[in-house]
Amino acid sequence: MPYRRKFLKRAGYTTLSALLTMGFLQKDNQKEDNSTNAIAANNTSKNLNSPLRQLAAAKGKRYGAAISGEFLLKDKDYANLIARECSIATPNGELKWDATEPQPGKFTFESADAIADFCRKHNIELHGHTLFWHMGKPDWVPYPPTLQMIERHVKGVMGHYRNSPVLKSWDIANEIIADSENETDNATYGLRKGVKPELIRDLFLIAASVDKNKKFYLNDFGIEGATWKSDRFLKMVEYLKNSGVKIDGAGIQSHLWFSTAYGFDEKGFNSVLKRLNDLEVKPIITELDIIIDTPLPDSIKKLDQMVADSYKRYLDLCFAAKVDTVITWGLTDRHTWIRHPRWMPRKTFRNNPSLWKFLRPLPFDENLQPKPACNAIAQAFQQAT
Ligand code: G3I
Repeated sequence: MPYRRKFLKRAGYTTLSALLTMGFLQKDNQKEDNSTNAIAANNTSKNLNSPLRQLAAAKGKRYGAAISGEFLLKDKDYANLIARECSIATPNGELKWDATEPQPGKFTFESADAIADFCRKHNIELHGHTLFWHMGKPDWVPYPPTLQMIERHVKGVMGHYRNSPVLKSWDIANEIIADSENETDNATYGLRKGVKPELIRDLFLIAASVDKNKKFYLNDFGIEGATWKSDRFLKMVEYLKNSGVKIDGAGIQSHLWFSTAYGFDEKGFNSVLKRLNDLEVKPIITELDIIIDTPLPDSIKKLDQMVADSYKRYLDLCFAAKVDTVITWGLTDRHTWIRHPRWMPRKTFRNNPSLWKFLRPLPFDENLQPKPACNAIAQAFQQAT
């Protein structure tokens, strides 16, 4: 059997069995449930079309999304949807190094300020993303940057937003843990090549010297389970805590891919949430989206239901661990990063535009209409204790 057919066959079984064992796929034979719980759930479902920010606030939580300034300014319907649904927002690229300090010591904040102004007008909190990352930086910045470059950048950018009425938190550092053990020269913390733990400690100390009134997060992906990476991430959080630096939260990006490469480890995810709570570093969901990779279900309807079930299952786990902030990486499939050819998963999609319609990771579709995923998120907030 040719490799590709064998892969798909294996992938099909693995993916389906993984989803079934994870309880992410409701079995078709589930009978009608007329219990009082179901009636109560049905009653609350009447509020399902309430804004997600309102349902979140009712439980002392926040819901928001990554937003792009370029769409905010030219797409009124998109802007209105953000204002209706979000109580927190993360600029997609406008607060990254390449946008804020394109030349050494020359700071530009127009695009980020426009987003901050929109947030002020609509009572939306702004989450700063990010001061230190191996991507989203101008060519003149090496990785890792020198301490002097870091100090100038942090003072320039955090200083600009020190008195901001909306910006309340920063991803001080993003994705500092390598993707695998052969991409690090630091066995304990698994940091990307060239990055020393002391540099990250000093980065957090510099940030606190500029503005200690914001919440400071360490943000990463691929830590949504018991993995080599999450183990190193947690060790790095513990190192920072033991070094006495201010670290308030851990950003769990949560770009969840269901494929043979990335099943969901519920037990491991719970252990990550528990470890962070034990360290008194709040778990924050910073970039949530649910991407279904090949082999795909045979209809958009089935795919949307898979996505919805996964949102509900994942958020139930988050809220059981007292997570109070959920940010999806975008609000509508219209602008999802995963449809951008540069970021699209697997060659299968990249070389096959007919599959792009299956990339539907967010609560609202490309026509800004709510999908089952939106109802699932609403229900998770409603049922949060
Ligand atoms: O804004 C310019 C536009 O004016 C220009 O015409 C266009 C030409 O290509 O580029 C636009 O900038 C793009 C920017 O997204 C728009 O916000 C950049 O080229 C593009 O590289 C950039 O990609 C972003 C990427 O981070 C790198 O910054 C993606 O949209 C964004 O979704 C992605 O987000 C990352 C998080 O920051 C960290 N976690 C992973 C996540 C997904 O990769």
